[in-house]
Amino acid sequence: MSVKLSNGREIPIEMHKVRIVQRTSLPPARQRLQAIEAGGYNTFLLRTKDLFIDMLTDSGTNAMSDNQLAAMMVSDDAYAGSESFYKLAAAVKEVLGFDRVLPVHQGRAAEHLLAKAFIKPGMVVPMNYHFTTTRAHIELAGGKVLEIFADEALNTQSSHPFKGNIDLNKLQDVIRTYGPDKVAYVRMEATTNLLGGQPFSMANLREVKRIASAHNIPLVFDGSLISENAYFIKTREPGYEHKSIQDIMLEMMSHVDILYLSGRKSTNVRGGLIATNNPDYFTALLNWLPVYEGFATYGGMSTKEVEAMAVGIREMTDFHVAGSAADFVKYFVERLLENNVPVVTPAGGLACHLDARRFVPHIPQHQYPAAALAAAVYLASGARGMERGTLSTDRDQSGNEVMADLELVRLAVPRRVYTMSHIEYVVDRVSWLYRQRELIQGLEFVHEPPVLRFFFGRLRPLGSWSQQLVAAFERDFGSDC
Ligand code: F0G
Repeated sequence: MSVKLSNGREIPIEMHKVRIVQRTSLPPARQRLQAIEAGGYNTFLLRTKDLFIDMLTDSGTNAMSDNQLAAMMVSDDAYAGSESFYKLAAAVKEVLGFDRVLPVHQGRAAEHLLAKAFIKPGMVVPMNYHFTTTRAHIELAGGKVLEIFADEALNTQSSHPFKGNIDLNKLQDVIRTYGPDKVAYVRMEATTNLLGGQPFSMANLREVKRIASAHNIPLVFDGSLISENAYFIKTREPGYEHKSIQDIMLEMMSHVDILYLSGRKSTNVRGGLIATNNPDYFTALLNWLPVYEGFATYGGMSTKEVEAMAVGIREMTDFHVAGSAADFVKYFVERLLENNVPVVTPAGGLACHLDARRFVPHIPQHQYPAAALAAAVYLASGARGMERGTLSTDRDQSGNEVMADLELVRLAVPRRVYTMSHIEYVVDRVSWLYRQRELIQGLEFVHEPPVLRFFFGRLRPLGSWSQQLVAAFERDFGSDC
C-alpha cells in the first residue's frame, strides 16, 4: 500500500510489524574489493558476511509471517499420507481452484517434470519470455523455446502497463508454422522475470487460452509471481479495480490447464508445486514425481515448508501481501529516475532493474556490461544484485556468444525484509555510481561453465577499474563505509 504525505510525495508503507530481526553489517569498500575479487566478479560467489543488503533475489529470502512460522511447528512428518499435504491441497483448491496437486522441491523441479512429460525432440514451446531454468529444461528434453512477446517488451523506457503480454499474431504464426502437434504447450510467465518483472493482462491471457484451446494445446502457467501479476491487473487493468486479488487469481486460473510455481517467491517458502484439474496430465506428471522428487505427499519438500506453503497460498491473496514488493519497487524506480539513473519502466514486480546499456554504454555486450555494473554496484554500496543479460545467456550449440535482448542488473526487493532507509541508501550509492560511470569497464571469463554459466563462472576486470572505483569512493566517503 502507498500513502500520500502532506507534502504530496507518495511512499510505500509497511502493513506489518517487524518482530524478529537479523543483524547485518556494512563491510567497507576495501573489504568489498577483496570479496568481489575472491568471488571472480560474480555476485553469486559472494559470501553474505561480505554484504550489507542482499538484493540478489526474492527467491527463498522473503520474510515469513507469524502464522507461517506457527504452522511449521505442527507439521506432520510422514513419508506418505501426511496431513500437512492435505492442508496444502485444500488451500490450492480454495485459492486457485485445482483438485490435483503435486508438491516439488522448487520451481525448476516442476519445469523438469513438465519437460519429461510433455516435450519430445523437435517440439516447440511458445511463451511470453523464458526464464533461465525453464529454457534449460526444455532444451535438455530436445525442445525449443519461442519467445513471442510484443516489440514493446524490449523498450526499457516504456509506459506500457503489460509488457509481459504474448503477441497473439505471433502465437497464430507459430501454430501455423509448426503445426499444433509440435507445440508441446503454451507457457505464460507471471510476471516475466527477465523482462523486468513485467505483467500480462487478463485480456491477453483470455485470448491466449482461446487460441491454444482451439488447437487443443495446453496452457501452462508459471505462477512463481502470481500474486504480483494479480496485483498489477487490479491496479492497472480497467474493470479490475474493484475485484479482489483472490477473485483475480481464480479468474486467471480458469484459463489455465496446468499451473506450476516456485513457492520461494509469492508464497514465501522454500518449495514448489504443480496443480491441474486434468486427470491425464496429473497422471503423466505423477509417474515421474517419485523418481526425481519424492512421494506424492511431500515431493522433496520438508513437511514444515508444506505447512507454511498452505498458509502462504492463502496469505498471498491479501492485497497488502501481494503488493508488498511492487510498491517498494515503484518507489525505488521513481527515486532513481529523479536522479536520472537509467532503469526499466514501468516499474514491475520483484525488483528494480538498472538498464546497463544506458548506464555504461561504452562497454560492448561481449564484455558483459550488466555483470560489470553488478560488480560496481556491490563495490559502491555493499548491496548485491544479479546480472540479467548476456552473461546469463549461455552460448549456442556451436559455442558462439548469444547477445541478450536486454542488459539488466536486477536489484531484487525481498518481501517485507528491507525498509525505506535501505532503499534510500541504495538509491544514493547507485546515483553516485552513475556519476562515476566512465570508470566502469568490462569483464572477461577466467572460468566459463558449459550450462547456466552465470552461477559458477569466474571473471576478471579488463584493466584496473575496480581499484580506481574504490579509490574514488574512498575520496568521497572515507574508508569506513
Ligand atoms: N520460474 C520463474 C518465473 C522464476 O523466477 C524462477 C526462479 C523459476 C521458475 C525457478 O524456480 O528457483 O524455485 O527453482 N527464479 C529465481 C530468481 C531463481 O532469482 O528469480 P526455483
